[in-house]
This record gives sequence, structure tokens and C-alpha cells, in this order.
Amino acid sequence: MASVEIRDVRKSFGPVEVVHGVDISIGDGEFVILVGPSGCGKSTLLRMIAGLEKITSGEVSIGGRVVNQMPPKERDIAMVFQNYALYPHMTVSENMAFSLRLRRTEKALVTERVHIAAEILGLMPLLDRFPRQLSGGQRQRVAMGRAIVRDPQVFLFDEPLSNLDAKLRVQMRTEIKELHQRLRTTTVYVTHDQIEAMTMADKIVVMHDGIVEQIGAPLELYDNPANRFVAGFIGSPAMNFMSGQIQGVNGTAVLRTDGGIDLPLQAAPAASDGRPAVYGVRPEHFILSDEGAEASVVVVEPTGSEIQVVADMGGAHIVAVFRERHDLKPGQKICLQPNPELVHLFDSDNGQRL
Ligand SMILES: Nc1ncnc2c1ncn2[C@@H]1O[C@H](COP(=O)(O)OP(=O)(O)O)[C@@H](O)[C@H]1O
Ligand SMILES: [Mg+2]
Repeated sequence: MASVEIRDVRKSFGPVEVVHGVDISIGDGEFVILVGPSGCGKSTLLRMIAGLEKITSGEVSIGGRVVNQMPPKERDIAMVFQNYALYPHMTVSENMAFSLRLRRTEKALVTERVHIAAEILGLMPLLDRFPRQLSGGQRQRVAMGRAIVRDPQVFLFDEPLSNLDAKLRVQMRTEIKELHQRLRTTTVYVTHDQIEAMTMADKIVVMHDGIVEQIGAPLELYDNPANRFVAGFIGSPAMNFMSGQIQGVNGTAVLRTDGGIDLPLQAAPAASDGRPAVYGVRPEHFILSDEGAEASVVVVEPTGSEIQVVADMGGAHIVAVFRERHDLKPGQKICLQPNPELVHLFDSDNGQRL
């Protein structure tokens, strides 16, 4: 196992820079997820760690050694791709053994390694099948098996679950996390799915347009997003944002929205009376009460475990989520009380947390 250090790494394709100076420290044995919208540079960064893409400037080290000039096969990493890239004419066992055979590993050792990986992944009964005879989840497991047999210092995953249906994705999430708890191999995992990041990572790196927006443990990012981008990206349904101005009302601070609704603040930043700001509140941090911000119900969406209510609050659509089964009808007037201890305030120009 090994740590991975990424220092001021940049990548340009021709004249266009797509990764703009990224710093990430990945501890030995850590499970780190790079998450962000499509096109933000996740795969490019992962491919630079793997050695599949040249680093334009900056430094990548694995286990304390700078690897910028090192070819992929010397980096002691194993990568799992979205499309699995299994060899169709080889059995599961041959697919898993392939990279070791290439390195002329002794036959008995190859068999042993393949069997250990197959045991871990529940692939023993499938060793003689061909990829076309496997389900999507099984193919995914073979792709992971191929990485495991190499016993690398670092696992790199690029959207490995994207081709699976929703149910299988949830199951494989658990399997990969369990696998990591067992092997403790340093892992860098790329996904655009924030739920995957939240549920699996020790540490999340939120990327956007080639920069790192924030790095932290899943709940740190959820509870204390550094800026509006992270606040809106992490969490589903997404955080509600309402813009307005900070006002001191009868000694208590509020944000008065552009639609004229007063929303409570625990404290306002010093000398901020009249300052424009964006108020952020998560859907589950509204309480349905007799007082608070007035809203009118637009749509009620029950999921079974909870109900999601889309409401119009001073001309802005907001989403509130309740675990209780409130009986609400479209058009109904309600009052929603945000919990002031749990609201967020962002600068209206640069989106930074206030
Ligand atoms: N080989 C390439 N040549 C030119 N541009 C590329 C190449 N690979 C990726 N890009 C661009 O780099 C940016 C980041 O891409 P990528 O790392 O694949 O994003 P992500 O994996 O986050 O979706 C995108 O704008 C993409 O179009
Ligand atoms: Mg990608």
C-alpha cells in the first residue's frame, strides 16, 4: 500500500488547460473519491495518476516516489474502467490471470492469487465461464478481480458502476466498500454520482471545471460546504437557495428574500445589514409549523419513507422533505420554519460561505 500525493498538477490538451493546478493528499489505505459533474477533469486526473496521460506540470508521487516519468506498468497500480474491458475469448479465470501471466508469474502462484480473489468476490462458481455468460454485476466483479490479483499499491476506479442498473449499483457500492475494509488498499475512485461519493468515501474531493472546490469527509462536506457549488452538488434533493438581503429585524437577523419573505438567521456577519446574500437550507431542515415563512404547496411527492413537497415561497420554488406523512394538497397554504442553526449563508457574488 502507499500514499498518493498530487501537487499543483495541471493538464493541457493542446492550448486548452483542463486541470488547473490540483493539490490532493491521499493517505496510505484511504478510500478517496473524486466527484464532480461530467467534464470537470476527474478521468484526466485519474489517468495522470495511472500514467496513461502525461502530466503537463506539477508532481504526482506514489509511496513517496515521484512517478511523473514512470510508465504505467512500473507504478504498481491497478485500474478498473467503466466498460470493464474484459477479453471476450477468455474465461473468467483467464481474464483474471492475464496480467500475471504477462509478467511471467509462476503458474502455481497465479492460480493461488486467482482463487483468493475469486473467493473474495464470490466468483469461484464462475471461473470457467466466458464474459458473455455473465450478468453486468458479475462482469464488474471480474474486472475488480483482475485488479485484486495484482495486489497493487493503489486501486484506481473510473465510474465502475455506471453501466449497472440502480439496484445493482447500490449492492456493488456495499461490496466495494466491504472489499476496501478488508484489503485496505489505497483507492482513488472517480464518479459523477454524489450519493456514491457520500456512501463510500473516507474522503471526498469535489471537483468543478478543473479545480478542487473542497476536500473533506462526507459529512463535513454535507454539514459545512465551503461554497455554494459544493452545497448544491452534495445532497439529494439538493439544498434550496434563495437570494435576498441580510436585515436586522427587531434585533434578530433575517434574510429577506427577493420575494419579500423573512428567513431566520442565527447570526448575521458583522456590519452586514443590507448586504446581498444567498440563503441555503436543506429540504430536511424545514419544519412544518403554524408560523414561519409562508409558502403554497405546488406538488406533493411521496416516496414511501418520506414525502417531498415542492412549494412556492415568495415566487421561488423550494423543496421540503418530511418523514412524517403530512396530509398536504396542491394549492394549500403552509408555513415552513427553517432551523436557523442549520441554514447556510453564501456571498452572492463569489458563492463563498459567509
Ligand atoms: N484527449 C483529449 N483531448 C482533448 N480534450 C480532452 C481529452 N480528454 C479530455 N478532454 C477534455 O478535458 C476535460 C475533462 O475531461 P474528463 O477528465 O474526461 O472529465 P470527467 O471525467 O470529469 O467527465 C473535458 O473538457 C474534455 O473534453
Ligand atoms: Mg470521466
